[in-house]
Amino acid sequence: AETDRENMLAVNDFAMRYFEKNLKETQEGRDIGLSYFRYRGISDAMVERFHLGYAVEGRDALFATALERGYSEKYLLSTGLCSRTDDGRVFDRFRGRVIYPILSLSGKVVAFGGRTLSKEKKIAKYVNSPESDIYLKRRELYGLYQAKQAIAKAQKCILVEGYMDVISMHQAGVCNVVASSGTALTVEQVRLIKRFTSNVTLIYDSDAAGIKASLRGIELLLQDGMDIKVLLLPEGDDPDSFAQSHSSTEVEEYIKAHETDFISFMARILMGEAADDPARRAQVITRIVKTIALIPDEITRRVYVQECSRLLFMDEDVLRREVGKYYNEYR
Ligand code: CTP
Ligand code: MN
Ligand code: MN
Ligand code: MN
Ligand code: MN
Repeated sequence: AETDRENMLAVNDFAMRYFEKNLKETQEGRDIGLSYFRYRGISDAMVERFHLGYAVEGRDALFATALERGYSEKYLLSTGLCSRTDDGRVFDRFRGRVIYPILSLSGKVVAFGGRTLSKEKKIAKYVNSPESDIYLKRRELYGLYQAKQAIAKAQKCILVEGYMDVISMHQAGVCNVVASSGTALTVEQVRLIKRFTSNVTLIYDSDAAGIKASLRGIELLLQDGMDIKVLLLPEGDDPDSFAQSHSSTEVEEYIKAHETDFISFMARILMGEAADDPARRAQVITRIVKTIALIPDEITRRVYVQECSRLLFMDEDVLRREVGKYYNEYR
């Protein structure tokens, strides 16, 4: 019911403020959480803008405080802020982690991400709120609330993988940035972006997983009629590490100079793998042709056929015929 959702949002809002207070006003928060953000190069202004926080160690610090303030166990459980063990004891989900609140388009706190400070491989790097009546992962984009005006103004949305990528890009002055938070981009997320602009630039991590995610993202975005560019960072970088090791001007100039259309991106990635094996090169061209065939608009398909022909030295008429074939198959 509506009041249940309101109560869940209220307890999340309380938790966000509690985590923020922990970060800044407790010894543990300052020594561990705030020093971690400093170590990652995050400024106080970004801590404020993204309402970053810290969950103290201990089984039920949040639970106990929230009950004291009159919040009910029911909503602490349904938001996933707390869980109950088999023997009935309640404990906090986030313990000894820095906290990234996830805000909806309208600025409501719908979920949290918590990052461990430990480099121990056995500990999950991120713990996130479970899905609930107020949080459907596929419908949220991290940072959209803070980025939406910049996206509308620039008429461009930069899509990255993670929390730190969004925050470090903002700190570098690039504010039209949102993250799909590690999950595959969804059509609901694309529709959210479309409310503000139809231009998207993908800047995923420069590793095998990031490249794979870019290829999938390209297909989804094209299908929905979005205009896309892709940017490949130097190998091993993600937008966070890149923004932290370059000046604001360098970040902006790098994006301007290195973002390419999806054909160039696919050609570069896939042709590199195919080397000079003719059969594999043919497979790559077919894959690119199939991708072009996803584009709803005919003129746009034509333009990309020309681009593909130019880049891959392949006869334009042949490409056009093949694109047409797959286009009709898809409908
Ligand atoms: N993610 C997650 N759970 C995981 C791993 C990743 O929810 N176990 C999400 C987070 O939103 C994370 C994003 O996927 O920000 C990208 O993951 P990754 O590249 O591994 O982390 P980074 O964001 O680069 O985090 P950091 O720089 O702090 O290591
Ligand atoms: Mn705040
Ligand atoms: Mn990654
Ligand atoms: Mn990353
Ligand atoms: Mn990172």
